[in-house]
Amino acid sequence: MFALLASYVFLCGILRTAVAANPKYVFAHFMAPNAYSYEVSDWQTDISEAQATFIDGFVLNIQTINMAIIEGKIDDAFSVAEPAGFYLIPSFDFTDDWNVTDMERIVLAHASSPSAFWYNNGLLVSTYGGESHDDSYWGGFKADLLAQGVNVTFAPAFTSYRDPDSAGTLLETYASLDGFFNWWSWPDDVDANLTTTVDLAYQAAAESRGGPYIMSVSPWQFKELGGTQDWVELSDTLWYYRWLQAIEEVNPDIVEIVTWNDYAESHYIGDINPNVNLGDVAPLYVDGFVHSPWRNVAQYFIPWYKTGAAPAVTDDQVIFWYRSHPKSVTCAQGDLPRMSTFPVDAVFALALISPASASSGVTVTLDIGSSHYQWDAPQGASMGSVPFPVEDAQIPFVQIIRTEGTKSGYGSMYVTQTDCTIYNFNPWVGIVQL
Ligand SMILES: *[C@@H]1O[C@H](CO)[C@@H](O)[C@H](O)[C@H]1NC(C)=O
Ligand SMILES: *[C@@H]1O[C@H](CO)[C@@H](O)[C@H](O)[C@H]1NC(C)=O
Ligand SMILES: *[C@@H]1O[C@H](CO)[C@@H](O)[C@H](O)[C@H]1NC(C)=O
Repeated sequence: MFALLASYVFLCGILRTAVAANPKYVFAHFMAPNAYSYEVSDWQTDISEAQATFIDGFVLNIQTINMAIIEGKIDDAFSVAEPAGFYLIPSFDFTDDWNVTDMERIVLAHASSPSAFWYNNGLLVSTYGGESHDDSYWGGFKADLLAQGVNVTFAPAFTSYRDPDSAGTLLETYASLDGFFNWWSWPDDVDANLTTTVDLAYQAAAESRGGPYIMSVSPWQFKELGGTQDWVELSDTLWYYRWLQAIEEVNPDIVEIVTWNDYAESHYIGDINPNVNLGDVAPLYVDGFVHSPWRNVAQYFIPWYKTGAAPAVTDDQVIFWYRSHPKSVTCAQGDLPRMSTFPVDAVFALALISPASASSGVTVTLDIGSSHYQWDAPQGASMGSVPFPVEDAQIPFVQIIRTEGTKSGYGSMYVTQTDCTIYNFNPWVGIVQL
């Protein structure tokens, strides 16, 4: 497995490099209901951290619960986004059912804002789901808005369209569709890495309508809310290879990172904000499980996606992530999630190495208990991993050994084989960079 990881790096290095013809954009999916208790300063923090990650805007996932309050929070978001030059895109979440009148009011409220995002001369509107409504619903929505002076570019995530063979049916069924957002950025309940087959099929469909094709890129997928809401998808190296798929295989019009702040599904790359009420259960597997260093990975891949050229790393660093328990441990609370046998019991590490350091030789070492792995890291990005040890209650130690001095650090979450309060497949993410 370790040799495979290393050869994967070199293989990707010789694949075709995308040519950036049209401007490329990267957005992050933002759960607007989690802004329920936001102050303006929370938006300022999120937007400045997103911009530091070269993210162009948030796609605001809007639900109908507490709608009036959330609309006020969206007004605050625009007031912060406008001077910052940051975009905000409405995305209606059809886990709820939407009244077209409400959607139109929300679109019109900020249609003339400089932070509204226009694509092909249409204001971009997206969804999560919504295919239970036929084309007359969506056509009516667009026609109403056009009559009120707003042309819409409609790029929904109709999530039941995942079979590549259904892309033609999608086009036949929805004449009002301009683009498409493929929500699916995790393996489909299988012990295999994700491929780009689905992306390429729906990209062709979306582009036949003018686009955009929006490709989802996500670091992880795990949920433990009880009942049917307990699952994990194999995500061990996803945050690495999915970016390479976007850059080298798909080259979509837009990348949408899933997500900034969906804590309960464990794919947040934003900070854990104590102002956000996550209910009773999600905090049991989210609190303390920081993901912020995953943004350093995005900082490397986003400029590559946008320009077509891998940026030169200036600051050698290793971003590493691991779960707090082996998958076979019995826990006091919750149920073993579906697909729990798929994740590998290991610490995963992604090295970002400068050309200068690489030319004089860099070795990255990973140690936990009696387990050890090391690799010679080339310039740019490469990955390695070290299996969880046999010993209980261990913490990883990571070194970047260079001629100009070694950088090293520890994880701050123990891997324990006992003392498990809840089934938790959400990883803790750390970084060594000093
Ligand atoms: C949609 O909302 C409007 C305004 O609140 C209301 O008048 C209308 O009856 C609603 N339509 C449906 C189908 O619920
Ligand atoms: C309206 O948006 C559509 C979809 O993106 C686009 O094809 C069309 O050119 C736009 N119409 C005008 C008048 O700008
Ligand atoms: C997924 O890809 C990684 C390399 O990124 C490889 O080490 C691993 O074995 C693959 N997993 C499966 C199930 O094929």
